[in-house]
Amino acid sequence: MFERLETVIPDPILGLMAAFRADPDPRKVDLGVGVYRDGRGETPVLNAVREAERAVLAHQTTKTYVAASGNAAFNEAIERLVLGDQHEARVTARVRTVQAPGGCGALRLGAELIRAAAPDSVVHVSTPTWANHTPLLAGSGLRLERYPYFDPATGGVQFGHLMAALERLPARSVVLLHASCHNPTGADLSQDEWRKLLALVQRRGLVPFIDIAYQGLGEGLEADAFAVRLFCAELPEVLCAVSCSKNFGLYRERTGALHVVNETPAAADATFSQLVRIARGIWSMPPDHGAAIVHKILTEATLRTSWRLELDAMRERIGGLREEAVRQLREHCPQRDFGFIATQRGMFSFLGISGAQVRELRERHHVYMTEDSRMNVAGLRRENLEYFARAVAQVL
Ligand code: LMR
Repeated sequence: MFERLETVIPDPILGLMAAFRADPDPRKVDLGVGVYRDGRGETPVLNAVREAERAVLAHQTTKTYVAASGNAAFNEAIERLVLGDQHEARVTARVRTVQAPGGCGALRLGAELIRAAAPDSVVHVSTPTWANHTPLLAGSGLRLERYPYFDPATGGVQFGHLMAALERLPARSVVLLHASCHNPTGADLSQDEWRKLLALVQRRGLVPFIDIAYQGLGEGLEADAFAVRLFCAELPEVLCAVSCSKNFGLYRERTGALHVVNETPAAADATFSQLVRIARGIWSMPPDHGAAIVHKILTEATLRTSWRLELDAMRERIGGLREEAVRQLREHCPQRDFGFIATQRGMFSFLGISGAQVRELRERHHVYMTEDSRMNVAGLRRENLEYFARAVAQVL
């Protein structure tokens, strides 16, 4: 039967990873896949992770199954990290958390839950959104539609257009939101805009599905969770997909969770039973190792402090690179204003150049970014910033 299958082109991010690896040119610059890189261009294992991992392995006595819902202690620790210790939804027992294989697993689990509850639901995603949101959400059978988000003229959010589009949605429409460090644009809502959006969501009876994949890499651990905390406290139903890939550097360990806020504790119990059923039918049990590490880090004071310091350093490095990229681009491409790079947050920025210019950057200068001109700012280094700016100047 497989002879009927056609070869598909790889996902744009995966295709770019492979092309970069295969490029032998020593000048090559990887601004493609969204992984953090240090000053040497490496994606290191965090010291806190190494230490926690040692402790986990030293004390582990079995490899037997944990549970379809994952490690309950991890679920509680991640709930506290994202929502805060005394969050209303926690205190009133309205929230349930299930561990998932990465943020991707959490997104799919949430989509399957929505499909089980209301099969005709439509999920509205930002224009643009992360390339993998589409297969992850639509793969569950839900229909996807788009709402306006990024404003190429300013490098910010078209907030007026976004509000006008969401205002027209029927009640119970699902709206996928990025908590912070919007992927792929780096353009976030301000706290004031989040409050206005909350009022609209309440008035229209919409259901937010929030993706939080970069907590701590935008403004800080608390500020990056502002929208999640606000929405989960004020709304009867919210889904929130959490990834530990970036802020704990645990990419390949596939560590994440789904929080679901319900109107009542009884509804939360029913939701939890459904989540367990769905997880069991897809991956059965989530991988344990990354979750055990995160739990250790979050619950041991010294490890938690050392992790926070490492996270702060990553965020500050990205912030510094943003400033420096703007400076270099101003010098080498004075005809174009790239100042928005410094005001955006997280790993990504849209450079705002054409697909043809992106291809030329890759083919002639070995600078890799996705076709839509999303660049991973963390892939820049002090040593290659000037090379990068000169290459951009040449393709413009
Ligand atoms: C990205 O956006 O590049 C990352 O989230 C990695 C991925 O899986 O796409």
